[in-house]
Amino acid sequence: MDALEAIASRRSVRSFTGEKVSMEELEKILNAARLAPSGSNIQGWRFIVITDPRILNLVRIFSPGFLGNASSAIVVCSDLEVYGREGGEVGRNYTRIADCAMAVENMLLAAHALGLGGCVIRSFSRVALKEILEIPEYVEPELIVTLGHPATQPKVPPKLRVEDVAYLNKYGVRWFSGGA
Ligand SMILES: Cc1cc2nc3c(=O)[nH]c(=O)nc-3n(C[C@H](O)[C@H](O)[C@H](O)COP(=O)(O)O)c2cc1C
Repeated sequence: MDALEAIASRRSVRSFTGEKVSMEELEKILNAARLAPSGSNIQGWRFIVITDPRILNLVRIFSPGFLGNASSAIVVCSDLEVYGREGGEVGRNYTRIADCAMAVENMLLAAHALGLGGCVIRSFSRVALKEILEIPEYVEPELIVTLGHPATQPKVPPKLRVEDVAYLNKYGVRWFSGGA
């Protein structure tokens, strides 16, 4: 599967077979995450891989957006100390979030390329997550990526067309799509 094909066919998967994601697959997904772009190459992201069903269930209970029976999840965190020290105010307030989002998309695409599925989740209790996962005070959970073997291939949700969201040279100057 090439990159464009992976981007086009990736979907948020919320229904899984129950089969476990192997440690080798998780390692490949983590490797894709660490290779993502990062502002000033700070790489202040930290990844908590959850494979323990008891811990995963606790996380699910405190995450309203966590739908489905994923067998694993990765909580993507940012180290505020690292971002503050190496990126100043911008690093602490902005770069950390952008970096984590970049890592998450790499993870989702890697999972998809491996025949797995997953979904990014922002709807969770950060307080509960910090407690359950013993996340230190200076580390912020940003996003959760659920992972599993897809039970079904979700339909493409409505997506805006290129010409709905893109302009040429100046804001508001319509981009005429070639139909890619
Ligand atoms: C920042 C962000 C937060 C999201 N939070 C949730 C969530 O809490 N629960 C959920 O089921 N999906 C969540 N999603 C997934 C979106 O609903 C999904 O990406 C969107 O509907 C488009 O579908 P697609 O990923 O299949 O293209 C989130 C996506 C993003 C980018």
